[in-house]
Amino acid sequence: MNKKYIIAFDQGTTSTRAIIFDKKGKICGISQKELTQHYPKSGWVEHDPMEIVRHQQEVFEEVIEKSSISINQIAAIGITNQRETTVVWDKTTGKPIYNAIVWLDKRTSEICENLKAQGLETYVAKNTGLVIDSYFSGTKARWILDHVEGAREKAAKGDLLFGTIDTWLIWNFTQGKHHVTDHSNASRTLLYNIITLDWDEKMLSALDIPEAMLPKVQHSSSDFGHFTHKEHQIPIYGVAGDQQASLFGQGGYKSGMAKNTYGTGCFMLMNTGKKPSLSKNGLLTTLCASITDDPIKYALEGSVFVAGASVQWLRDKLQVIEHAKDTEAICQATTTSDDVYVVPAFAGLGAPHWDMNAKGAIYGLTLDSGKNEIIKATIDALAYQSRDVLEAMVEDSGKQMKSLKVDGGATANNYLMQFQSDILNVEVDRPKMLEVTALGAAFLAGIQAGIWTKKDIIKLREVDTLFTPEITEYVRTKKYTGWQHAVARTKSANQ
Ligand code: G3P
Repeated sequence: MNKKYIIAFDQGTTSTRAIIFDKKGKICGISQKELTQHYPKSGWVEHDPMEIVRHQQEVFEEVIEKSSISINQIAAIGITNQRETTVVWDKTTGKPIYNAIVWLDKRTSEICENLKAQGLETYVAKNTGLVIDSYFSGTKARWILDHVEGAREKAAKGDLLFGTIDTWLIWNFTQGKHHVTDHSNASRTLLYNIITLDWDEKMLSALDIPEAMLPKVQHSSSDFGHFTHKEHQIPIYGVAGDQQASLFGQGGYKSGMAKNTYGTGCFMLMNTGKKPSLSKNGLLTTLCASITDDPIKYALEGSVFVAGASVQWLRDKLQVIEHAKDTEAICQATTTSDDVYVVPAFAGLGAPHWDMNAKGAIYGLTLDSGKNEIIKATIDALAYQSRDVLEAMVEDSGKQMKSLKVDGGATANNYLMQFQSDILNVEVDRPKMLEVTALGAAFLAGIQAGIWTKKDIIKLREVDTLFTPEITEYVRTKKYTGWQHAVARTKSANQ
């Protein structure tokens, strides 16, 4: 039977999905399950690693069952995942020794302060491309080794394994045969040297993490072993962290291309080519999704921790909206929110501010400010945060951006997209297919399977809407200056 479909496993922060794509990059089936969020203490966020594996298997079975496609027609699997989230497990029992510590979790800020006190900031920037922040996996792995009874001894004996979510899924899917990751995920650990493309001895020793725990790093488009389902074996041919996968899916294997994804957080990445360019403005240097036989490419990244998560906050905590999509009509209809600013520093502030200890705040309330003003200011904050990052990117890359490709759930909100274009003063290019992260992973797998070449990505991309700026420079500056003041007041005392 002709193998002409690719399936993408998209394991994100809040949901786990399986999406089947045909050769034209069109979706032929999709299944999804929500992932339980655990908040054991203020600032802590955990996932159950077993639930992640179970859900991924279930959505796979469900999508096959729902579609008219048989397993035999699937050429390969591409995996894309929430990055940095850390699992440590016992290689004999296969059981995690602690819950997965999620990228948003702030518990390791003290370990980070310690690394800073050792004077490692410049070393970290030059060799890992990152900043010292609790966002990345290294300090999370260290915390697990320090806090789970007997973990250090077991790790020293070589009985424990470390992985980001891609590694954890593949190890489970291949019955422990493959302990692997790809360049894009490795570059988010604080443990990987993005210049030598090797685990970094100095960082491993600073964090006291045995190298034997770490996975083998491969090209993102390469052979990661086989997913077994009953009598079927499907090769896993693509793996990439979700943000690098969406950059790839937008055609960002070319240098100079940039995209912004609005998910739980908001992540702007620009491919800067074969040489790493270090940021002077608070951005990260990270590895793009890589293809065997192609040169390694670097990207500048601006990571904003809270985007879609703030819409969930409106829905679940403030309970001022029923559905995320309600925000569009509310924002369009609210004309009285001009001086209200919500700074959603619910997980500290990421790029370009890097303030682990900042907390969320609302400014500019008057007696006539109601829930709609707060809703609108929360949505506006997604656009303002993206401008903070874009300014840093233009400054670092020396490239003026004319157009920004966007994807992710919140891009369906026309108000937000128009406001984004207004605030950035650039064209915002929304494609027809918004599942670009999954598509990027599918492309990586499909390239290895010989179904596509990377040039097909651009050929298959269709524009839905181009949003162009509609406000004056005076209004833009006034609004953005108000935001900058709000952020300055939100920063923690030690910044
Ligand atoms: O770095 C964190 C990122 O990978 C999470 O992505 O899609 O869950 O916002 P998302």
